[in-house]
Amino acid sequence: MQKTVEVEKESLSFKLNNDQALLQKTIREVALENFKEKAREIDKSHRFPRENFELLAKLGMTGLTISEEYGGGSMDYVSYAIVIEEIAKACATTAVILSVQLSLCAAPIEKYGSTELKEKYLKKLALGEYLGAFCLSEPGNGSDAAAMLTKAENKGDYYLLNGTKAWVTNGSEANVYIILAQSTPAETLHATSLPKHKGVSAFIVEKNMLGVSFGKLEDKLGIRASATCQVRLDDVKVPKENLLGTEGEGFKIALSTLDTGRIGIAAQALGIAQASYDLASSYAKTREAFGQKIINFQAIQFMLVDLACEVEAGRLLIYQAAHMKDQGLKYTRQAAEAKLFCSELATKAGNIAIQILGGYGYTTEYDAERYYRDAKITEIYEGTSEIQRLVIAENIIKEIGERIGEPA
Ligand code: CAA
Repeated sequence: MQKTVEVEKESLSFKLNNDQALLQKTIREVALENFKEKAREIDKSHRFPRENFELLAKLGMTGLTISEEYGGGSMDYVSYAIVIEEIAKACATTAVILSVQLSLCAAPIEKYGSTELKEKYLKKLALGEYLGAFCLSEPGNGSDAAAMLTKAENKGDYYLLNGTKAWVTNGSEANVYIILAQSTPAETLHATSLPKHKGVSAFIVEKNMLGVSFGKLEDKLGIRASATCQVRLDDVKVPKENLLGTEGEGFKIALSTLDTGRIGIAAQALGIAQASYDLASSYAKTREAFGQKIINFQAIQFMLVDLACEVEAGRLLIYQAAHMKDQGLKYTRQAAEAKLFCSELATKAGNIAIQILGGYGYTTEYDAERYYRDAKITEIYEGTSEIQRLVIAENIIKEIGERIGEPA
């Protein structure tokens, strides 16, 4: 009996292991020293912070979750979440640049790529010689991801890609792109009554392939330096070896990739929420009104208390999803829950930080207004909050069915 209790005790820990704790301390210091001040400048100028990416490469962060075999750090996804959160606290733009590199570009290559593709791309991604991107959305489709118009025609030795991908983070700055395209002709889908997602395939496309071009940089509310733009494909010949997985497997590749990506965006959002809380609470501790520090007023305390609780809850949701992924368990629902909760929290936290700072919060003298602007996109990219609710609902309904013994 005693023994069982001990095993149970060991099976759940809220403490980071030594490697994770050291990583957290290191990346926190690096981000604070190198990214925090610059975040204001790149927000104003929209300049892609290449030197931040290079510094992350030097520290091995651009290959953090890539296997050692391909030059990466073979680190777990709790570590990944820790790194993204710490970077986002200082600069949310730099956080998404790294998150896309690791979870939306390197991860699907590692999971679905041939040994040759892994050799060719993962080593360079791990070293930061390559920056990665992921292209699913298009000007006319976002949430309805399977409704893409980009076509991939099988020409034997190569696929011919045509179409326009939209809202691509790292867009014009990346070297390598995961591109989702419809590879089954509409007539075939129609004749076989296959749903359109069954005809989607995933490809690795390089920037220097003939026919790849870019749209203008999007002028965004926040995360302004992440080089978001369209990626245009005009008769791009992609070698058949660059197909990821098998033909028609692309939609599953995209959605499973987004499961991982959503842990990253949740961590990015959490970093923004934590930074908002840190700023608002330290301001409240020093600012005086009505003859005392404003932190003494319950109105302020209650706002900060709610944030403190929610930030902790969000972190636990993220660690749960990441830990389940690390254990090889299905974590689609948990990743969606973490992203939904943390992204809505980030916007709320930015808003509260502005409220507590008052007029100062509304100016660029403080970072609160940037946190608020940066936060909003986390409710949109890698699946809107509405899509996360749909994903969670679908999984909950399945789980209820299993619990009550309903046939699948
Ligand atoms: N992993 C693997 N496969 C999955 C999956 C998952 N998490 N979820 C579903 N699938 C599979 C299903 O099993 C099904 O396969 P079969 O037909 O073989 O059984 C297939 O995918 C289709 O599933 P659904 O019928 O549930 O799909 P749907 O068409 O109804 O759409 C959706 C589901 C949840 C709405 C999905 O389209 C979605 O997530 N949309 C949002 C897209 C998104 O997040 N876009 C963000 C773009 S990336 C970005 O933001 C860029 C950036 O740079 C940051």
